[in-house]
Amino acid sequence: MKFFLDTANPDEIRRALRWGIVDGVTTNPSLIAREGRPTDEQIAIICDLVDGPVSAPVIETETRAMTMEGRSLARIHPNVVVKLPLTQDGIAACSELSRDGIRINMTLCFTAPQALLAAKAGACYVSPFVGRLEDTGAPGIDLIRDIVAIYRNYGFETQVLAASLRGPAHVAACALAGAHVGTMPLKLMESLFLHPLTDKGLEQFLNDYQKTFAFEAISGR
Ligand code: G3P
Repeated sequence: MKFFLDTANPDEIRRALRWGIVDGVTTNPSLIAREGRPTDEQIAIICDLVDGPVSAPVIETETRAMTMEGRSLARIHPNVVVKLPLTQDGIAACSELSRDGIRINMTLCFTAPQALLAAKAGACYVSPFVGRLEDTGAPGIDLIRDIVAIYRNYGFETQVLAASLRGPAHVAACALAGAHVGTMPLKLMESLFLHPLTDKGLEQFLNDYQKTFAFEAISGR
């Protein structure tokens, strides 16, 4: 499973890139607004940092305007993936932009039929929101599993980009369900490293080693 970082913050991106496990970045209008620069400027900054797909959201809501905004975002950098909402206008814009070779991430997906629409419209990615769906009491991981199965049934090349992930268990469950990508905030990515037995085991290993070799150094052997 590929890992995308869900942020528009350059410091967070730099911090995660040093691990060598980040395959791309996703943003949304809320994340971009937090950085205080308009989308095109912020996406250009991110594309200078990341060697991989960078999802750039459109703000327009009507097909023609979305299409124009999508084309303009795609011109910023070859790594830009235009992010469109899963509405009738969004699907129409997806069909048109995909036909022209612009990669699309269809976002705000909450049902398998919506994901089918995204694939039929030629989207490169579909983003089912696991956490936000579970907030309503519906099972989020079942949605990932269903979309993966439907895409396999028909050989769709659209990749399932599991979004709105809230914890390491979500990441593992999405990988088990066959999601192609998981996008997550830095805090969640950092939490994937953690287990108390890792820290405890390392401490013990180093203590055992130092007991022997610190003694040798002192005794001059
Ligand atoms: O960027 C899309 C998605 O990952 C947002 O997640 O945590 O705001 O529900 P969240």
